[in-house]
Amino acid sequence: MRRRHDRSLGRLLSIALLAVGLFGCTSGAGDVRPWTRDDHDPPNPGEGQGGKVAARPVASDQTDPGLIELAWQRNCSTCHGRAGRGDGPQGPMVRAPDLTDAAWQDRVTDAQMADTIRKGKNKMPAFDLPQPVIEGLVKRVRTNRAR
Ligand code: HEC
Repeated sequence: MRRRHDRSLGRLLSIALLAVGLFGCTSGAGDVRPWTRDDHDPPNPGEGQGGKVAARPVASDQTDPGLIELAWQRNCSTCHGRAGRGDGPQGPMVRAPDLTDAAWQDRVTDAQMADTIRKGKNKMPAFDLPQPVIEGLVKRVRTNRAR
């Protein structure tokens, strides 16, 4: 007798729980939007544009030395190092030259440097940067000339 009572109580309980579960589900369904593409791929304006993303903010204010510095750190210091001595993490691998070298600096013109940056040279990749940024980078190289 006692067992039967327990069982019916158990069934009652499970029905109650089921009802709560169903109720929970139904009320929840109202809040949950159907899945859309946006849930998975939130729009990100910076995405999918490759290296040009870095160039854009730099171009908006060409004379800001902080932005030239940023351009150097993003694009150049991996090989050339912070001051241009060729001691960036990739410097030895590509044999990045010492850009602070005074004798080299005396030989090279600003236009030649700008040309190399724009077109690349051997292991040095080409950089499609706005002209004022390239000029700023050339100036930065000049600033680090060893005396
Ligand atoms: C992947 C490594 C690498 C990166 C990144 C790199 N360079 Fe170079 N760079 C080199 C190498 C290697 C040379 C030597 C090329 C040669 O003469 O064969 C060089 C040469 C140069 C020269 C000397 C060119 C000349 O006239 O002789 C300048 C100036 C220069 N790089 C500036 C830059 C600037 C500015 C950036 C960033 C916009 C940059 N480099 C990014 C590897 C790199």
